[in-house]
Amino acid sequence: MSAAESKRKPGAKRAAWSQVTARVREQRDYAEGFRWLDLDVPAEFGEPVAGQFVQLLLESPSPVLLPRPMSVAGVTRRGAKTTIGFLYAPVGAGTRVLASLEPGETVRITGPLGQGFPLDEPGTPVLIAGGRGLAPLLMAAEALAKQRRSCEFVFGARNKSLLIGLNVAKDVLAKRGGRLHLCTDDGSRGLHGNVIDVLDKISPKLEAPLVIHACGPHGMLGAIARWALANGARAHLVMESVMACGTGVCRGCPLPRSAEARDRVLATGDAASALQGNPEWAMCCTDGPVFEARELDWDRVE
Ligand SMILES: Cc1cc2nc3c(=O)[nH]c(=O)nc-3n(C[C@H](O)[C@H](O)[C@H](O)COP(=O)(O)OP(=O)(O)OC[C@H]3O[C@@H](n4cnc5c(N)ncnc54)[C@H](O)[C@@H]3O)c2cc1C
Ligand code: FES
Repeated sequence: MSAAESKRKPGAKRAAWSQVTARVREQRDYAEGFRWLDLDVPAEFGEPVAGQFVQLLLESPSPVLLPRPMSVAGVTRRGAKTTIGFLYAPVGAGTRVLASLEPGETVRITGPLGQGFPLDEPGTPVLIAGGRGLAPLLMAAEALAKQRRSCEFVFGARNKSLLIGLNVAKDVLAKRGGRLHLCTDDGSRGLHGNVIDVLDKISPKLEAPLVIHACGPHGMLGAIARWALANGARAHLVMESVMACGTGVCRGCPLPRSAEARDRVLATGDAASALQGNPEWAMCCTDGPVFEARELDWDRVE
């Protein structure tokens, strides 16, 4: 593949980010300790695309100084009002306070941030979700349906109780025409195996090229990246990193570039390399969080 082809293609036209005050519309338990949060944002907040994230900053007094990154899990428009949904796990000081917010309370929100899925890329779309990675991919399935394209949708977890949001996935895909393939490590639901076993099973029946969009744990994303590289598919993967600014300034969210990506950055001196500062390291917040498999060195991704 040429250097130009290997560069990730831009997704749908994206809105510039802004920082606004958002109001909690609703917050509820989802499943397995996960929470769903709906925030109403003012009209000037740009509409996120699937795969993008925001930074949520708790109002003072707060136990955490820095904002917390969160993938956008849903966008609902009601007239001039926009509500943005998040599916999250309260794992530490910041997300536990987030989980305690009541309707009407406010947070500062910066976004939409980062690169979303390039859903206009030609090929057979295969969406793969692991654990809480489901939500951005359901957004992607809806966006594909608007382009009159259906998808293969692979959803995997360690066991059936961790297929979080399965009923929502079934509903969305039934309405939007996607085909759902389930798998669990312990065989309690769907295929007994992981998402790679599903890819091996379904890929011979699908029209090439396959274009994979995936979100889930880094181990799963690394396995998908290696599968895509070995099988001539493209794979766009939502990565995570601990973040501070979320906007490319602090250089605090590095991910190791592949040799191919590093050579391209050095050869072209493209505008991105000047912004991101280092041909060895991509910034998760601005180069990503969605990366094509060829962009990263999967042996060095943690
Ligand atoms: C682009 C992006 C999108 C994200 N989307 C979601 C989402 O949709 N839903 C969701 O539940 N979480 C998501 N996260 C992770 C979320 O940002 C962290 O869980 C959150 O920052 C933890 O903050 P805290 O103050 O509660 O925990 P802290 O007290 O800061 O940390 C608690 C524990 O979580 C770990 N942790 C903190 N940040 C991360 C991280 N980024 N990745 C892995 N472990 C981390 C810490 O190492 C520590 O062990 C996303 C992260 C990124 C970078
Ligand atoms: S979080 Fe600051 S550069 Fe990415």
